Amino acid sequence: MTGKKRILTGDRPTGALHLGHYVGSLVNRVKLQEEYDSYILIADVQALTTHWEQGEDLENSVYQITSDYLAAGLDPNQATICIQSKITEIHELAAYFSMYTPVNVLRHNPTIKAEAQQHGFKDLMYGFLGYPVSQAADIAIFKAHVVPVGEDQVPHLELARRIVRRFNDLYKPVLVEPEVLVGQVSRLVGLDGKAKMSKSLNNAIFLSDKPEDVWQKVRNAVTDPARIHKTDPGHPEVCTIFEYHKVFNNSELESIEQECRQGKIGCVACKKRQAQVINQLLEPMHERREQYKSRDILTDILREGTRRAQEVARSTMEEVREAMKIQYFK
Ligand code: TRP
Repeated sequence: MTGKKRILTGDRPTGALHLGHYVGSLVNRVKLQEEYDSYILIADVQALTTHWEQGEDLENSVYQITSDYLAAGLDPNQATICIQSKITEIHELAAYFSMYTPVNVLRHNPTIKAEAQQHGFKDLMYGFLGYPVSQAADIAIFKAHVVPVGEDQVPHLELARRIVRRFNDLYKPVLVEPEVLVGQVSRLVGLDGKAKMSKSLNNAIFLSDKPEDVWQKVRNAVTDPARIHKTDPGHPEVCTIFEYHKVFNNSELESIEQECRQGKIGCVACKKRQAQVINQLLEPMHERREQYKSRDILTDILREGTRRAQEVARSTMEEVREAMKIQYFK
């Protein structure tokens, strides 16, 4: 086809995307979409590993994430947005991978452990414990060279590399060992200043938040607790808003730091500036979101993307079956 290297990434459709997703990996995907042949997988089956009872919401979430992608700047003419459950070869490949992936490796996966704890899972479901294997199949079926993701995905990428290497050794070297690309800001702090930004922790600024929502959220964000009056010297190193200035407002960083330490800029003014900067970032996203408002347009994009992805998946699976000698009636 194009001779470009290929990217594959994905997200579970479990809710609106926020600034943490944006700086963690979305911005990389947008930047790289021209240079690479890019595939973005909406991992609806993987979403069921934690939300298995929410069939109806799943469809809305798929549309929601699609409009977030397009708003963030993914161009459907460059990047292929596709739906995991519709690419049935992925599940076939995952089954083959699962034959030689030890359960203990999955049990010790730090992201699996953290997520199990977060969701209060004790007796782990088979699908949940095994989703990194299916994720390896997501990546391998596209023969992706690069996978731009957030830091929490690194253990899954290590496993994917291992599974691919083993496949190539066992059968025939037809699969590509993927490289991981972690965003510059691998972990964006939440508005509460405690944990990373996350929808379930209710500390997130969403890409779809309007200027007034952004201001209300930033206004209530946790800052330096030792600073009560504007003239008190501030401690930017403990301030959530300063963390955001670091990420979103580099050009004013030094002056804000100095003014804060000298008690010259108050928290309200500093937050106002921060809200402005975030709203500037989000404004073009709101405009793009308007262009893709119609559900029919989104359906067309998903249908076409999924069709393109199915072609790639079919062709890889031909090679996989041939390598494994699981080919009948030829
Ligand atoms: N596990 C990823 C997440 O929770 C989503 C995902 C599914 C993914 N398949 C993928 C990421 C393949 C990268 C590549 O965000």
